[in-house]
Amino acid sequence: MSDLKISKECSDVFNNIIESRRSVRFFREEMPSKEAIGDIIRAGLLAPYAAQAVDENEYFRKFIVISKNSEKMKEIAEITKNKVKIMSEQLKSQMDKNLYLKEKGESFSKRLELFANKGVLGIGTAPYYIVVAEKKGIPPVEQQSLAHCLQNMWLKATSLDLGFHLVSATAQMGEDKDFCEILGINLGEFGLNGCAVGYPKEIPHKTSRPPVSEVIKWID
Ligand SMILES: Cc1cc2nc3c(=O)[nH]c(=O)nc-3n(C[C@H](O)[C@H](O)[C@H](O)COP(=O)(O)O)c2cc1C
Repeated sequence: MSDLKISKECSDVFNNIIESRRSVRFFREEMPSKEAIGDIIRAGLLAPYAAQAVDENEYFRKFIVISKNSEKMKEIAEITKNKVKIMSEQLKSQMDKNLYLKEKGESFSKRLELFANKGVLGIGTAPYYIVVAEKKGIPPVEQQSLAHCLQNMWLKATSLDLGFHLVSATAQMGEDKDFCEILGINLGEFGLNGCAVGYPKEIPHKTSRPPVSEVIKWID
C-alpha cells in the first residue's frame, strides 16, 4: 500500500476546484490543446470502475474526441438531432396517455423539442464533443461508471480553466448503427455518455445548494 498523504493545501485547492465547477454551455471559438484534452481523459481513466462487471484484461473504456471542425461532426449532429426528434415524439405521445408523465415530463419534453428543432446542445456547438464508451457488463452498471468518469473529467477541465457540460443525449445513441459506425465501436456493445469541452464564453453564476445542516441526518 502506498503512503498517500494529502496536505491541507491540496485539500483547499480541491475545494476550490469543486466550488468553481459549472455547467458551461457556451464557448469561445478557440480550440483547447490536444494535450489539455489528453489530461482530461487521463482524469477520466483514473475514475473508479465496476471491477466485477468488466473484463479487466481487455480494456473497457474508450474516449472518442470529435472536433467541431471535423467533417464527421456534421453527420453526428444530424444523426443525434434525428434521434432526439424521435424521442421527443415518443415522449409526447406517452404524455397524452399518462397524466403523471404529462405533469412531470413537461420541462424535459420542451428541452427535447428544442433539441429536435435546433440540434443537441454540445454537439457542434462546442470545440470538442467527447463520447465516453464503456463496455456493457453484468451487473449492467456502465452508466453509473460513466458518471464517475465524466465527473473526474469535469473537475480536471475546471482545473484547466476549461468549460464543460454533459451531453446526456449521447446515452441514447449506443444502439444507433450510423453513430456507432462513425465512432468505430460495435453496435450495442457499449454504454455511452458524453460531454462538450471548450473555453467558456462566460462563467455562469453558481447554482445554489442548501447548507449541509439542512440535508444531513446523523445516526450516532
Ligand atoms: C444525470 C445528469 C444529466 C445531465 N445532463 C445534462 C445535459 O444533457 N446537458 C447539460 O447542459 N447539462 C446536463 N446536466 C447538468 C445539470 O443541468 C447541471 O449540473 C445543473 O443544472 C446544476 O448546474 P451546475 O452544473 O452549473 O452546478 C446533467 C446533470 C446530471 C446530473
